[in-house]
Amino acid sequence: MGKKKVVIAVTGASGSVYAKVLFDKLTNLNEQTEAVGIVMSDNAKEVWRFELGNQSYSDYNFTFYNKNDFNAPFASGSAKYDTMIIMPCSMGTLGRIAHGISNDLISRAADVVLKERRKLIAVVRDTPFSLIHINNMKIIAEAGGIICPANPSFYSLPETIEEVAETVVNRVLDLAGFEQESYRWQEK
Ligand SMILES: Cc1cc2nc3c(=O)[nH]c(=O)nc-3n(C[C@H](O)[C@H](O)[C@H](O)COP(=O)(O)O)c2cc1C
Repeated sequence: MGKKKVVIAVTGASGSVYAKVLFDKLTNLNEQTEAVGIVMSDNAKEVWRFELGNQSYSDYNFTFYNKNDFNAPFASGSAKYDTMIIMPCSMGTLGRIAHGISNDLISRAADVVLKERRKLIAVVRDTPFSLIHINNMKIIAEAGGIICPANPSFYSLPETIEEVAETVVNRVLDLAGFEQESYRWQEK
């Protein structure tokens, strides 16, 4: 399996713990990655500070890009990043992507991934959804993106918030094509 070039976008939806667990797992899966680029919106940092009580995103050994940095490699299809995961994905970012408003690095990178027919996984988070949200998800799904809602499962009997978050993160890593050990129904 070739090594992956992955963009991780974190936006200001609730659920910073999802991003944290994803960062932890990608750190452990570093042999499967050639490049991991991270871009966080301003509100993503704000929500992380509020929900997790720290700024530990800056402790990770990935390459971080400013949300307005259109010089980031994955702002262009030529850099051949193969996968983009937006986790969690706010309704604002979802709407900007669905309507091609590439006014920051997150929406531009998603635009690139879709136009190049590569893999976009949007871990959308809000509840309930308005018809606007649902229509925007439909647009992205029709354009080839994967809508993977931040809906945890409980049949693995998670005991901590991180384990609950892992039930979503593991599905996302599977979708992204990573080889990893995780809970699988009816397998031991
Ligand atoms: C604590 C907190 C929780 C939020 N949760 C959500 C959420 O679950 N879903 C959502 O779409 N927006 C949520 N928002 C609002 C977004 O942060 C806001 O719409 C922002 O403009 C999204 O922009 P971004 O996608 O560039 O981060 C939340 C904001 C705060 C402060």
